[in-house]
Amino acid sequence: MEAWLLDPGRGSLGRVDCEIPRPGPQQLLVQVRAASLNRGEFLGVAAGPPRPCGIEAAGVVVACGASASSLAGFELATGTRVMGRAAGGFAEFAIIDAHDVLPVPAELGWEEAGAIPIAYLVAYDMLAGHGALGKGECMLIAGASSGVGVACLQMGKALGAFVIGTSGSARKLERLVKAGLDTGICARGAEFEQAVRRHLEGRVVDLAINNVGGSALAACVAALRFEGRLAQVGFVDGVRTAVLDLEQLHAQRLHVFGVSNKLRSAAQRAATVRGFVHDMLPHVRSGTLRPLIDQVFGFSDLPLAREAMLADRHLGKLVIRMDA
Ligand SMILES: NC(=O)c1ccc[n+]([C@@H]2O[C@H](COP(=O)([O-])OP(=O)(O)OC[C@H]3O[C@@H](n4cnc5c(N)ncnc54)[C@H](OP(=O)(O)O)[C@@H]3O)[C@@H](O)[C@H]2O)c1
Repeated sequence: MEAWLLDPGRGSLGRVDCEIPRPGPQQLLVQVRAASLNRGEFLGVAAGPPRPCGIEAAGVVVACGASASSLAGFELATGTRVMGRAAGGFAEFAIIDAHDVLPVPAELGWEEAGAIPIAYLVAYDMLAGHGALGKGECMLIAGASSGVGVACLQMGKALGAFVIGTSGSARKLERLVKAGLDTGICARGAEFEQAVRRHLEGRVVDLAINNVGGSALAACVAALRFEGRLAQVGFVDGVRTAVLDLEQLHAQRLHVFGVSNKLRSAAQRAATVRGFVHDMLPHVRSGTLRPLIDQVFGFSDLPLAREAMLADRHLGKLVIRMDA
């Protein structure tokens, strides 16, 4: 099969011919129909040998391990439409662990399905997990135009929250307002903290989502109410350390949490997947929750898609579609 490899040291992509992987007893092999890009994969990756590129996929089951169906909680057979985290999603075939697999609703096309697993599961993990976002609460999303940011915006609206979002682009904010954003703040870099403070004008935030990184931390913390929550999800600004106002943390009894899946057990990941299937797939079916796809690229154009992502030209998701 054909697959893309990422050389982490050089940051370069290479297209190779390789063996189709074989699923283990708790895994399934899918013929990939679409997969989307995620910024984390291209950010400050540690050096090492070239490895399969792409961290999610949507496709059709072509082989299934003996215990995959019972672990997945739904019937898996040849031809079942599925999506999920996948190490090596930018390939003709990919392995999905049964703990990570979700059914693709009939209402969803392949490109939309390929854009769901990573962004929407992390958004669900933050909003429904420690974030416990409730109806009528206020959520601030730093980096609202990102794939994760848009997923948080849509889920926040589905949960009945008031949503404030930041972006470095006034044009993207206009599009986000059309997609349901209640208030947009055009801010980035050194002016971020001042701009957010000025625009909030005393409004307090129940849950802050920090997609941006260290340059947005102080503004997120300062915006929180008594017992407010802060989810630290990424570092697109490359700033991985920041000063935390301990007085604020202490006096306001803040809750700060991270959402990486790297050290989670399969059972912990599966709990998030099952929660999403139960709570959010109905919104996907009804159309309330549909990935905002900025652009779709062919399999050969992965380098172009990555370039578009790193240049911040997109809003929402960039998708790779496999030829039928
Ligand atoms: N489980 C997890 O922990 C998990 C899962 C998925 C993603 N993530 C993390 O979440 C973050 C977002 O990922 P994504 O794939 O959704 O990103 P994305 O779609 O590539 O969007 C990133 C956006 O961040 C903004 N940005 C870029 N550089 C910036 C800077 N220097 N300062 C401020 N804003 C900047 C840009 O938006 P504007 O042009 O609007 O400013 C850009 O479009 C990443 O850090 C990723 O690693 C974590």
